[in-house]
Amino acid sequence: MTNSSDKMDKIVALCKRRGFAYPGSLIYGGFANSYTYGPYGVELKRNITDLWWKTFVRDMPDVFGIDGDIILHPKTWEASGHLEQFNDPMVEDRDTGHRFRADHLIEDQLGIDAEGMSLEEMTKLIRDKGVTSPTSGKTNLSEVKQFNQMFSTEMAKTSEGSKAYLRPETAQAMFLEFKNIVDTQRCKLPFGIAQIGKAFRNEITPGNFIFRRLEFEQMEIEYFVKKEEWEKYFDLWHQRMDDWCEMIGLNKKNVHIYEHPQEKRSHYSEKTIDIEYDFPFGRKELYGLAYRTDFDLTQHQKHSGQALHIHDEESGQKLVPHVIEPTFGVDRTLLALLVEAYQEEKLEDETERVVMKFMPRLAPVKVAVMPLMKKDGMTEKAHEVWKLVKIFGNCELDISGSIGKRYRRQDEIGTPVCVTIDYETLEDGSVTVRDRDSMKQERVKIDELEDTLRMKYFRVCHSEFISESHTTLNKKLNQR
Ligand code: GAP
Repeated sequence: MTNSSDKMDKIVALCKRRGFAYPGSLIYGGFANSYTYGPYGVELKRNITDLWWKTFVRDMPDVFGIDGDIILHPKTWEASGHLEQFNDPMVEDRDTGHRFRADHLIEDQLGIDAEGMSLEEMTKLIRDKGVTSPTSGKTNLSEVKQFNQMFSTEMAKTSEGSKAYLRPETAQAMFLEFKNIVDTQRCKLPFGIAQIGKAFRNEITPGNFIFRRLEFEQMEIEYFVKKEEWEKYFDLWHQRMDDWCEMIGLNKKNVHIYEHPQEKRSHYSEKTIDIEYDFPFGRKELYGLAYRTDFDLTQHQKHSGQALHIHDEESGQKLVPHVIEPTFGVDRTLLALLVEAYQEEKLEDETERVVMKFMPRLAPVKVAVMPLMKKDGMTEKAHEVWKLVKIFGNCELDISGSIGKRYRRQDEIGTPVCVTIDYETLEDGSVTVRDRDSMKQERVKIDELEDTLRMKYFRVCHSEFISESHTTLNKKLNQR
């Protein structure tokens, strides 16, 4: 295999060539770090979010889904602390006007971890050690300032004022709706609220393809527990997140845990771990798990004047629950899956192929149906077979080009199985079934095609895996 940055370049090129993700607004010369998911990217993304929703919402009786707004009441961000605290240290190149994350420059150029340093300390270090601007190569850098990561926008004037914010995390709507969920779903502790949606961050240095974007998608759960039980549920969700990584096909050797020291934790957290992944550009945060205490609900109580508690049947008391928050980035999941799936293989005839080995459950195309030729009724037959296999999800009718080229194309898309219609099909109703990974082919009768595909590719109900471990874990925890 190729070296790491080579691998990343090849994945980015494949994404553009095959239709997973394109640089955004290209007809206007592109737009800073914006990407559009193409037909296969959007299918892959939807498969990720569907599987997540099934696993963590539909299959968990104590987790309730919501879909809140991107623009929430501006007081939300005062209460949550984001207005004051959601900042990155920024330094500006006085010659070019380019802006950079001060802590990243210090880390990249001096090998020093600047987390927890004050702005003054960073400014002094940058000046004393001659840190340079990556664009001009000069040391003419401004002092380090705080830069708030929230995107603001103007609303038509209301009595509250006109400034509003695009949410930087999906979490807050789940705190704002806490009481509605408790009242309508008759919840008892522990229970969770889940949401999938866009979040927006004015990142000073976005980059690494879809890894750090200005707008991205999150899948988050706020899991409400009694204070004295937070550690038990932290461990449980850690286990569930590990199970999820395994379930979506991330190799265990590429997945790591990093516990944040106190100075690196967000303002609301008393314990945070990152689930990190070995991307080609380094080991980086994939997901996070935080113990948010009762910080958010307490803050919203204070700022809204509304009571946000739950009646605890056991003690007969009203209490403000504590929160365990597992958070999953959709775009980073997609990127990790692309990295994990990408394989270059040397074939027996000395040619090479690139193949994306997605697990069938997540593959953007489940089955590609191909007529050998566009004549003698083969296309019509292929259309019939395509209708039949569509029950497995998104399937493609791949008609043009030599059959060899079509197989290579489907390998690069990561289609687990191709079905070919030829003259024999017209005579005896059999088709060729070609396996992506082994490239082996077998003849199967159309009548038996659905059963064969189900048995070989689409049988595993992955989320049972987590529910099972969930039950086992709950049992284990209760035995403690
Ligand atoms: N509610 C907690 C929260 O938002 P976070 O660690 O700041 O925590 C959660 O973000 C997840 O969102 C990250 O683990 C990552 O997967 C994803 N994420 C954060 N910033 C991102 C960005 N700029 N681009 C893409 N994904 C991002």
